[in-house]
Amino acid sequence: MIPDHYLFDTFHGKRIHLGVTGSIAAYKALDLTRAFLRLHIQVGATLTDAARKFVTDLSFGALGADPLFTDMFAEGMNYDHLEPAVADAFVVAPATANIVAKMANGLADDLLSCQLLAYPGPVLVAPAMNPRMWQAPATQHNWKTLGERGVGRIEPDCGNVACGDTGQGRLAPVDEIFIRTLAALSPQDLRGKKVMLTLGPTREYFDRVRFWSNPSTGIMGACLAIAAALRGAEVTAITGPVELALPAMIRRIPVVSAREMFEAAADVFPSQDIGCFTAAVADFRPPACDIGKFKKGGAPLALTFEPNPDILATLSGSKRQDQQTIGFAAEAQNLEANASSKLARKNLDLIVANPVDEPGAGFASKTNRVLVMDRHGRQESWPQLPKTEIAWRIWDWILMNTP
Ligand code: C5P
Repeated sequence: MIPDHYLFDTFHGKRIHLGVTGSIAAYKALDLTRAFLRLHIQVGATLTDAARKFVTDLSFGALGADPLFTDMFAEGMNYDHLEPAVADAFVVAPATANIVAKMANGLADDLLSCQLLAYPGPVLVAPAMNPRMWQAPATQHNWKTLGERGVGRIEPDCGNVACGDTGQGRLAPVDEIFIRTLAALSPQDLRGKKVMLTLGPTREYFDRVRFWSNPSTGIMGACLAIAAALRGAEVTAITGPVELALPAMIRRIPVVSAREMFEAAADVFPSQDIGCFTAAVADFRPPACDIGKFKKGGAPLALTFEPNPDILATLSGSKRQDQQTIGFAAEAQNLEANASSKLARKNLDLIVANPVDEPGAGFASKTNRVLVMDRHGRQESWPQLPKTEIAWRIWDWILMNTP
């Protein structure tokens, strides 16, 4: 299942072509097809003869894949056999050792290999095979050749494979193939930029098993991290404790407390172009204590909380001229005035403010309603939008203001 924060509306109407070859993992190409169609990306597919021993073209057609190709000389085939050339990306998943070898050597002895040879756009290949076939010098040589030609290579995973062997050879997870395809469909307008994000809540423990925190899910930060990575940025996400999938193309530094997040961010930020601070950092922490568990006993428990460092204010306050910072603000009242004063006080380039306690906005919601304000005095109120869409627009805004 593809997580919602991987679903960017900006890809609606794109078209991909899927090549499916003869591996037991061929059934996963159906999940991939569904994921693209869910995003209103059109999917065409070509199945080799061997693929059709595992899955049928009927299954792909029933999901909505169109056009569908199988045999080059099939009766009633009324498509131009090289028609996939108009697709925005060509994805081969799963790819056998055989198709990898054919691609590396320019063979064109069936419909899929002909289509791949003639295809002018971005190609991605996700192999699946027995680990010994994968490790074979011939396969490794072919794989290297594909890399040298600019083919997007999605390495197989390690683990148990269907034939009982263990090693590298399992098809990469469907969500990885999905996100790598979206990257191939994205403008590479953040290429060369390094982006650091903080996201999620922090936890401040007051005994060894209890903590003070907030319900942040980190979705907004994840959407921003993924959008930046899709557009070519090198992304580091410093994540508080969240159950949140992030693609392998994002470097993840997990932390727990505000002070750990601060240390990680202070370490990473000097090498970055942009810092984006979406984390819902606990402003206070209980006193350090090594008690296993506070026992109840009728008496009140009094703890004196210490202020935590303001990560954004500290790092943005001493940023270089060539660095940009983006801050977030959840406000209960006076959205505009509070956002404007935070923009100035924390020395930000951009602030994204949202009202708290509004349905469809804020913590744990898939959507948000935000006011965006930059240091040049530009300001816009956006209607309620998916967080993925807000993330995409924030990068558009940053790019418009980056020389
Ligand atoms: O001052 P306030 O908490 O409303 O500011 C919110 C912004 O500051 C967010 O971007 C948040 O990630 C960041 N922040 C921080 N460290 C803190 C508190 C907030 O980085 N201790």
